[in-house]
Amino acid sequence: LGTVVLLLIIRLLSNGFISQKTEEPPGPWPLPLLGNLMQLDLKRPYKTLCQLSKKYGSVFTVYFGTNKVVVLAGYKAVKEALVSNAEEFGERDIAPIFYDINEGHGILFANGEVWKEMRRFALTTLRDFGMGKSLAEDKILEECRHLIQMFEEQKGNPFDTTCPLNYATSNIISAIVYGSRFEYSDPRFKNLVARANESIRVAGSAQIQVYNMCPRLFSWIKNRQKMLNNRDTSVKDVKDLIKHLKETLNPNMCRGLVDCFLIRQQKEEESSVTDSHFNETNLIYTVTNLFGAGTDTTAGTLRWGLLLMAKNPHVQDQVQEELSRVVGSRHVRVEDRKNLPYIDAVIHEIQRLANVVPMAIPHKTSRDVTFQGYFIKKGTTVFPLLTSVLYDESEWESPHTFNPSHFLDKDGKFIRRDAFMPFSAGRRVCLGESLARMEVFLSFASLLQRFRFTPPPGVTEEELDLTPAVGFTAIPSPHKVWFLMLQDVAKNRAISITF
Ligand code: HEM
Repeated sequence: LGTVVLLLIIRLLSNGFISQKTEEPPGPWPLPLLGNLMQLDLKRPYKTLCQLSKKYGSVFTVYFGTNKVVVLAGYKAVKEALVSNAEEFGERDIAPIFYDINEGHGILFANGEVWKEMRRFALTTLRDFGMGKSLAEDKILEECRHLIQMFEEQKGNPFDTTCPLNYATSNIISAIVYGSRFEYSDPRFKNLVARANESIRVAGSAQIQVYNMCPRLFSWIKNRQKMLNNRDTSVKDVKDLIKHLKETLNPNMCRGLVDCFLIRQQKEEESSVTDSHFNETNLIYTVTNLFGAGTDTTAGTLRWGLLLMAKNPHVQDQVQEELSRVVGSRHVRVEDRKNLPYIDAVIHEIQRLANVVPMAIPHKTSRDVTFQGYFIKKGTTVFPLLTSVLYDESEWESPHTFNPSHFLDKDGKFIRRDAFMPFSAGRRVCLGESLARMEVFLSFASLLQRFRFTPPPGVTEEELDLTPAVGFTAIPSPHKVWFLMLQDVAKNRAISITF
C-alpha cells in the first residue's frame, strides 16, 4: 500500500505541481517581495536581462519585486512571439503609472476596441497627411531649414543640440497633428516639449519602478506627482489648441490629424453612433501619445548619429563624400535615398547600435500560450528585449561595434537585415516608423551636408562616451562635441555643441 501511495503522490506531483512548474520559463530564483531586484541594474535593466539570457535562454522569467515578467531574448524568439504569435503577444501591459496618466485612452497605453480604433485612425490619417506623401517630406524639409539656421546662429558658442533636435522632431508632429508648426521661441511650445521629455526621463527612474511594483504603498512619491502635474498642464494646453482648431474648423478641409478627428466625431454624433470612441479624451491622449512616442525617440536617434559621426571620422568622410557626389549642394529629398547606399547603411547602423527603445514597451499575453515549450499564463507581462535582437551575436558579425558594413554587400549595395528591429514588430509595431525613417534620413543628411562633427579640443574620439542616459529610452548622456561648418573647415572655425 505504501508503494502505491508513493507512486500516486509522484504521479500527482508530476502531472500537476512539478510539470506545470518545469514548463514555465526558467529564471533566477526570486527572493520574497524583492523578487530578482538584487540581480537587476534598475537604471539600465536591459543590460542585465541580456546577461541573464545567456544563462537562462531565449525565454525566461524574472521578478521585478512581486511582478512576474517573461523576457523574450534574441531575434528568433522575439520574431516568433511578436510576428508568428501576434495575437497572443500583442496586448499592452499598462504599468500603474501609465494607467494613472492615460486611463486606458489613446494608443500607447490602451488595449481592446479603443486601441484598435485609435491606432487605425492615426495610421490612416498619418498616411494621408504625410507618411509616404510629399506633404510630410515638405514639412520635414521646412523643419530642417529651421534646424540648420539654429545651428548656424550658434557660431563659436557652446551649443546643446538636445533642445533644437527635440523642437524639430516635435514640430514635425505638430505640423501633422495641428496643421502648423510652432516658433522655437514660443514659451508654450518650449514648455510642452520640456514637460514631455521630463516625463520620459522620470518614467524610467527607480522611484517610478518602485511605484509600479507597489502602487498602493508608494502613491505619494515625488516623481509620480511630477508626472501627473506634467500630464495635467499638457492636457490643458492641448485642450486649448483643440478648442482653437474647433472654432476655425472647415468640414471640407483637414489641416491635420485633429481636424480629421473632429470631423469624424461630428459625423458619428450626427449618425448617433452609440459606442463611438471618437470623443475628446481619446483625441487628447492620441495627440499626447504621438508627441510622447515620436519626439524623444527620433531626436535621440539623431543625437546618436551626430555623436557616432564625431567618434568615427572615417565614416563621416565617406558620408560626406557620397552626399557631395550624389546630391551636391541642393536639398536632399527622400528619392535620393536609393542612390545613397552608404548613408542608408550608416543610418541603419546608427539605429541598430543606438537601441533607443531597448525593451520595446511592455506587452502582455492575451491568453494562455505555450511558447517554445514553456507555458505562459494569460495576462503575464512580456518584455520583448529589442537590445538582444539588435545585438544578437548569431545575426550580426560585430554586434557591439559601429560597423555600417552590416548593411552593405560586397559591392557596396545596401542590404536589408531582418534582425534590424528598432521599431519592434507585429501588432504593436511602432506606428510612426515610416515618418521616423523619413525624418532621420532627411535631418541627418541635411546636417551632414553642411557641418563636420568632431570631439571638443583636448578630447579624443575614443574618449567620447557612448553610455546611454538613464530613462525609458536609451538616448545619449550629455556630451560635448564640436561641429565645423563645411565651408569653414578650411578656415578651422569651430562651433561647440553639447549632446
Ligand atoms: C511604439 C520605436 C518614432 C509613435 C513604439 C515601439 C517602439 C518604437 C520600439 C514599441 C513597440 C512595441 O510595443 O512592440 C520608435 C523609434 C522611433 C519612433 C526607434 C524613432 C526613431 C515614432 C514616431 C511616432 C511614434 C515619430 C509618431 C508619429 C508610436 C506609437 C507607438 C509606438 C503611437 C505605440 C503603438 C501601439 O501601442 O500600438 N515605437 N518609435 N514613434 N510608436 Fe514609435
